[in-house]
Amino acid sequence: MDFSDAAESLQEVHAQIRRCRRCPLSRSRAKAVPGDGAPGADVMFVGEAPGAEEDRQGRAFVGAAGRLLTQLLKLAGLDRDTVFITNVVKCRPPGNRDPQPEEIAACNEYLLSQIALIMPKVICPLGRFAAQTLIEKNLSISREHGKPRRMSGILYVPLYHPAAGLHQAKLIDSLEADFRELRRIVAGELKSATPEPGTTRA
Ligand code: URA
Repeated sequence: MDFSDAAESLQEVHAQIRRCRRCPLSRSRAKAVPGDGAPGADVMFVGEAPGAEEDRQGRAFVGAAGRLLTQLLKLAGLDRDTVFITNVVKCRPPGNRDPQPEEIAACNEYLLSQIALIMPKVICPLGRFAAQTLIEKNLSISREHGKPRRMSGILYVPLYHPAAGLHQAKLIDSLEADFRELRRIVAGELKSATPEPGTTRA
């Protein structure tokens, strides 16, 4: 599949998400939130679930946590338009409660399709739910944040969720340090993925 086919298929997955009725969140949502950004992004961020503002606009991370994420991305030398940002669950849980295991399971195929079509080199799960869904069921985000690990050729870098920094001021320093370090991690990863001119990669 070439890039334009993949971008078209991504649009098709997003259309399916917008009309999805797989779980009860589809009845309470205003708008489903498939995700935003570049279909060919090297770096993908995966949050927990849309909040009130995201539900209203149908766009990911556009509320208070999203404004903080935009600032943190700058520390990593990244721009919202060049990365892809989505969530584990594509519809808002009522009252911003935690997403339930059945809701995460119902949405998982959409997330896996997005990863397969975007083919990012680095994925940053934001917070416990995303890290446990994408990396390891019992992962402790307070222990593992900022520590990269490679799985199936993709470098995963679990990070605290930006909303945690809004609620617990002491986590802001950790978030900022991790996003600064992410700049170095991404640069190293992209460099090693780009063949030197005149060489071929095995
Ligand atoms: N929190 C999330 O996890 N995702 C959003 O899109 C907004 C807030």
